Amino acid sequence: MSTVVSLEKRGSVAVVCIDKPPVNALGRAVRDGLQQAFEQVRDDDAIKAAVLCTAGRTFVAGADIAEFEAPDFDASLFHQTLDMIEGLDKPVVAALHGTALGGGLELALACHYRVASPGTRVGLPEVTLGLLPGAAGTQRLPRIAGASLALDMIITGKPIDAGRALEAGLIDQIVKTDLLEGAIAVAEERAEQDAPVRRISEMQVDPATVPESLFQDARESLRRRPTGNPAPERIIQCVEAAVNRPFPEGVQVEARLFQECRESRESAALRYRFFAEREAAKIPGLPKDLSLREIRTVGVVGAGTMGGGIAMNFANVGIPVKLLEVKQEALDKGLAVIRRNYENTAKKGRISMDDVEKRMSLIQGTLSYDDLAGADLVIEAVFENMDIKRQVLGRLGQVCREGAIIASNTSTLDVDELARATGRPTDVLGMHFFSPANVMRLLEVVRGEQTAPDVLATVMKLAKAIGKVPVVSGVCYGFIGNRMLEPYLRETEFLLMEGASPAQVDRAIQSLGLAMGPCRMIDLAGVDVAAKVVQEHAKAGGLPDDPAYRAVVQKLMAEGRHGQKTEAGYYRYEDRKPVDDPEVARICAELAEEHGIQQRSDITDQEIIERCLYPLINEGARILEEGISYRPGDIDTVWINGYGFPDWLGGPMFWADTIGVPEIARRLAHYGEARGNAHGYWDQAALLERMVADGLRFADWPFDG
Ligand code: CAA
Repeated sequence: MSTVVSLEKRGSVAVVCIDKPPVNALGRAVRDGLQQAFEQVRDDDAIKAAVLCTAGRTFVAGADIAEFEAPDFDASLFHQTLDMIEGLDKPVVAALHGTALGGGLELALACHYRVASPGTRVGLPEVTLGLLPGAAGTQRLPRIAGASLALDMIITGKPIDAGRALEAGLIDQIVKTDLLEGAIAVAEERAEQDAPVRRISEMQVDPATVPESLFQDARESLRRRPTGNPAPERIIQCVEAAVNRPFPEGVQVEARLFQECRESRESAALRYRFFAEREAAKIPGLPKDLSLREIRTVGVVGAGTMGGGIAMNFANVGIPVKLLEVKQEALDKGLAVIRRNYENTAKKGRISMDDVEKRMSLIQGTLSYDDLAGADLVIEAVFENMDIKRQVLGRLGQVCREGAIIASNTSTLDVDELARATGRPTDVLGMHFFSPANVMRLLEVVRGEQTAPDVLATVMKLAKAIGKVPVVSGVCYGFIGNRMLEPYLRETEFLLMEGASPAQVDRAIQSLGLAMGPCRMIDLAGVDVAAKVVQEHAKAGGLPDDPAYRAVVQKLMAEGRHGQKTEAGYYRYEDRKPVDDPEVARICAELAEEHGIQQRSDITDQEIIERCLYPLINEGARILEEGISYRPGDIDTVWINGYGFPDWLGGPMFWADTIGVPEIARRLAHYGEARGNAHGYWDQAALLERMVADGLRFADWPFDG
């Protein structure tokens, strides 16, 4: 008998229950167990109907994604189990709770009827893994829920709630009381009726659900927003097949296209990303029984863009926030911006006006540090300046209650120095939110030299609770993301001085799939902000002894070209559209002259990509060798969630493996020779050299076991 699937007889109904923590994924053991259990349902004359349910917090969350990596993976194994269940003449009722996703929903669709508890969500999110549903989901969902809704659900991957699923006929009933009892009642009722069971595979797609231009519009929308994800175009083909062909043929189309997706490099990258993100939340070496601190109230110092956005994260999940400013005027302005943000979200229909008021009532402004005394966590988000931050943290060290956690939202400064300023460094860490802080999912959690393990673990858990993707970084200039950004921006500026235009640099980088090239990115973030970061770095003695280093951003700032907000930066802006500006070309030519840099007209897109991104990867290797980051996947998680690196390339370190580390090393050496290496810009990380010598890939991490 299976250890993960049980069968219990409740009168004439067999209750088949999957119990495979954490999410009842449909791996081999579960499939085998289901096969056995439903063979018993088929063969036992005393059994008249069956209920399929799951133990734990959720229904089946999908196929076991880890199995897709096996070279001999065979999707037809799913079909065998699902077809066997659907083929039974005895009614089978799926009882859904939590989430029924991917292979989980496909399993439910192979059952004859579906009931769900309120709050259940169902969906086919395979597209987020570069896949399409491979167990006939593309064929059954349009038949039961209509082509239009099915296409939308499969192509966006977004789940729908039980209410919507009921409306669409995808589930038959919402059970508000005991789910299992409700499901058993439905099973008994169906068995008593003695009518033929309903098999979705025998249904036709309702033509009323297929608007004439459905597929054409879907393709057009893909053309407008191209992506490297191989699945969306193929998903359209599958749903088209569901509409136009008999079920068995549609299943064959799906099987072929699923296999193409699974074997693609892009899907491999997206699957890697799925696990990397979850792995990043794990901190090696922490005791398992560590008890965490409780966070019931939060304080935020600074009601600027960053502080306001940070406060919203907590209010959104019902945690009260005290928001501190020095002056009433600044506080009023900060609160007004928060209200406007919420109201805009309400206008888009994502929250109700009631929610706006509820959330606003959770954010209380204050001008007094004493009001922070009761908070369990206080995050400072004041101006990025060491002296100011030290003062604020010193004050927090005095007013915060014993055991409260104190965090700094610095993006570059030394967290250990800030921690010392509080006089209680074990309570301190960095929480580096990305702007806009209420939207961006990445959170770099900076572990100081003395940060207590329970402080770190508490903040990692809290980060997940507020919907962030947390990644731990050690203390260094810029942590993981901004540190790697530095060589990327350095080369961007050298390329501009050598004669490339901002549009050319951005185009090359964007052609790879990055959301935004470096010049547009700085124009958006603020040239003044970027230039001040360089100045602070210089004050801390961190810059190379090279007057040409980041000279462009300094010059643009001096000329008052602060980016999009002043309608001029790396570009000139016409109706918010960036256009190349001859003035910038002139500034860059002058700087080239001043610093003895030769201008040339033969800069290719490939050179731009290599010069900007290979040093970034090299810096990533240093971050690993210094122990700033635990794993390559953490670095990739930072770049995908914080810097718009395409997820279907897997992040810079995964991408490096696809190019080949030896090739990257060879090109770094080439540029060192071609450009000169007086300032060590092209020095290679010792780790990279070792990888080349030993034939290692980042995927082989950790190298020493
Ligand atoms: N396969 C393998 N492992 C899975 C998994 C899956 N389908 N879904 C979740 N897990 C694992 C996670 O890796 C994690 O493991 P660790 O604890 O070891 O890190 C654990 O389950 C818990 O997951 P989360 O941390 O994500 O927990 P959550 O409560 O935040 O979210 C969830 C739960 C909504 C189910 C989320 O895990 C999720 O979205 N899972 C993926 C769903 C999905 O994409 N399904 C489609 C799979 S592909 C498919 O089914 C193809 C097909 O058609 C045949």
